[in-house]
This record gives sequence, structure tokens and C-alpha cells, in this order.
Amino acid sequence: MEAVVLKINHREYPVFIEKNWTLLYVLREVLGLTGTKCGCSTNDCGACRVIVDGKAVNSCVLMAAKLAGREILTVEGLANGEELHPLQQAFIDAGAVQCGFCTPGMLMSAKALLDENPDPTEEEIRQAMKDNLCRCTGYVKIVEAVKLAAGRMKEMDHERI
Ligand code: FES
Ligand code: FES
Repeated sequence: MEAVVLKINHREYPVFIEKNWTLLYVLREVLGLTGTKCGCSTNDCGACRVIVDGKAVNSCVLMAAKLAGREILTVEGLANGEELHPLQQAFIDAGAVQCGFCTPGMLMSAKALLDENPDPTEEEIRQAMKDNLCRCTGYVKIVEAVKLAAGRMKEMDHERI
């Protein structure tokens, strides 16, 4: 076992972990952060996606012990208290959630995209989400949700100016 401090959702988590434990395993089984899902464990579905230092990555293939000090954001870190993140609200409003299993990973890919590119084209949204698989929605509503969130976030920025 190795002592590591993981920075997750702006909080520090001291943990004892084995070198070969994945971030997905540590999030779910050690820390109880079960919002991040396991769909395949083989880097193929995007259900386990989180953001590390601003990049969307699959946590099922990242070794947690190597992530000490890095900024990790999971789906639990999106909402502001009781207030949903605009992406979460837009997924609900656009009907982009059915079984919901892929949704946390979709949200994290979309968050990383909008952080880097607040006004993406439909093609850019599809490209950013291309490695997130959904068995239920057919993707159209997911793309609509990301567009809806981007528009709302732009409006919120204008209101702040
Ligand atoms: S569980 Fe990580 S990509 Fe599928
Ligand atoms: S909503 Fe069911 S897998 Fe995407």
C-alpha cells in the first residue's frame, strides 16, 4: 500500500492504495464516489470519464497512485450545492438522459469541451463526445443538451458583465 493524497473536486483525500488500483476503482470502491460509472474497464465506453488537469480522460485506465497532486474533477463536483450545473440541467431539459448510465461520462466530456471552447459547433460537440457510448438515446438529444447548456452559459456570462 502507498499513501497518496488525491485532489478531487477541490478537496484533498488522503488514501492508502495499491500501485495497480485504477482511479475508477479508488473513486468508487475506496472513496464511495459512485457517480463515475464502470461500463467496460477497457477504455472503450467513456462511462468512467473524469477530468484531470482540464482534460477528459477515462478513469478505468489511469493508475490512481500516479495522480497525486493533480486536479481531478468527477461528476459529483459539477453541481454547486443544490444547484445543478447548467450541463446537468440541460441534459434533463433536453431529454438527454434515459437509463443514465452513460450520463456522468457524457457530462464530463461536455464540461471539458465547454471549458476550452464555450461556443462549439455541432461537429465539435460530436467530436468531443465521440468516445462516449450511449445505448439508449441515439445521441441527438445529448448533442442538443450540450448546445442548450452552451447557450445558457453564454447568457449567464452576459448577465454578469
Ligand atoms: S469503463 Fe472506462 S472506458 Fe468504459
Ligand atoms: S442514457 Fe442509457 S446508456 Fe446513455
